[in-house]
Amino acid sequence: MNLDKYLSNTGRYVNENVNLASGTLAWGMRATKRMQEFPDFINATTGSATEDNGELMVFPTLVEETQKLTATQLFAYANLRGNSSFVHAWKKDTLETYPQELQDITDKLSTLPVTSCGGLTSGLMVASQLFFNQNDPLLIPNTRWGNVDNVFLKNQRLREETYQLVDKEGNLALSSLIEKLKSLQGAEDKIGIYLNFPNNPSGISPTFDQVKELQEALVEVIKPTVIIIDDAYEGYVYENEVLDHSIFPYLVGLNENVLPVKVDGPSKRFCAYGARLGMITLGMGVETEDSKKAEIREMIAKIARSNTSSSPRGIQEALTNILTEPVKKQKILQEKQRNLDVLKKRYQLVKEYVESNESKLLYPVKFNSGFFSYFLLKTQQTATEISTKLLEKGLGTIPFVNEKNGLNGIRVAFCSISTEKINEALDILYSVD
Ligand SMILES: Cc1ncc(COP(=O)(O)O)c(C=O)c1O
Repeated sequence: MNLDKYLSNTGRYVNENVNLASGTLAWGMRATKRMQEFPDFINATTGSATEDNGELMVFPTLVEETQKLTATQLFAYANLRGNSSFVHAWKKDTLETYPQELQDITDKLSTLPVTSCGGLTSGLMVASQLFFNQNDPLLIPNTRWGNVDNVFLKNQRLREETYQLVDKEGNLALSSLIEKLKSLQGAEDKIGIYLNFPNNPSGISPTFDQVKELQEALVEVIKPTVIIIDDAYEGYVYENEVLDHSIFPYLVGLNENVLPVKVDGPSKRFCAYGARLGMITLGMGVETEDSKKAEIREMIAKIARSNTSSSPRGIQEALTNILTEPVKKQKILQEKQRNLDVLKKRYQLVKEYVESNESKLLYPVKFNSGFFSYFLLKTQQTATEISTKLLEKGLGTIPFVNEKNGLNGIRVAFCSISTEKINEALDILYSVD
């Protein structure tokens, strides 16, 4: 049956432009296939953290708490805005990751979070629907997670205004973003910016000096500017001097024309990828009355309501029990530190390797955080060609290629390689020619 005559414009456009068999999913499947043929194959394609024995990394306290949920806690509807005790606990948990002196002011200058059903991805979609029209400009880094294109460019059809996140030497550079932001001030009525630190795929986060540079540019903004802050990997940071929590508290209270929208959730914060819960918190440019903040929160909730009605309740109940009970909270913080230590060890092994070895083809960007290491190419070959060769040699990687915006790099997910296999994986990576 030909469905064409039944399709909406969005349905048709998304069908023609979103490719479910491309990018990370497709390369992940290729790697899984190679693992069956080749027992020593190392799969560095997976973007979920795993233990050294290959099992999914979890938070045992959350697993335990989830198993104790009653039928009502699991299966009854949740509040449309998120269960009240949960959103308060989530906000508190987030604020506690900020430096002491920013906690009260950020609390004052932001709404309570609103839940959305469908992980951070749904939070990005809700934010897009609330703030942007088709063809509005979105400043978006050239290194980005593929589904960001699907949400903002292919489904919502915003206009792509790319900024280069990483310079030719592999350093994070905010100059491209800042220049573009300035150049859009004249002609546009409203501007969108998408920020994602630690970045997928590059594993880069800004230093505190770079955050300041961005703040200075935002203070000058004269057109309404909505900053979507994708905080999927917040807190996974391995170096000093680098922003080790969300950038959100530095972007509130800057300017009446700047609206930071924090999108976060338990997917990576608590390794609960399948829980499919997203959170949206709005930051205020200037002091705003509580009643107004509550009204703003209702606006977010109406968009979330009209998309997916309400969000999963079980994960909210389990996390509330943990975050509001001091002993459990202490336990989950220890588990967070333990998981971070595992990832940090792998990160350090990757760093040591790339600092003492040279590849003919690849050089690392200055990754410092997140789940991934990322490599640029020294030659004209494409990352796709290199990843194909690596598959044959026994290493699964993800190529990130986009000719239009100069993207050509390889992502190696140390979050899912066992610690003892890191050197072997990098030997394979650096042997490619
Ligand atoms: C940068 C980034 N944002 C958002 C997400 C989506 O998270 P979720 O699974 O909660 O939808 C991912 C997932 O990999 C990601 O890498």
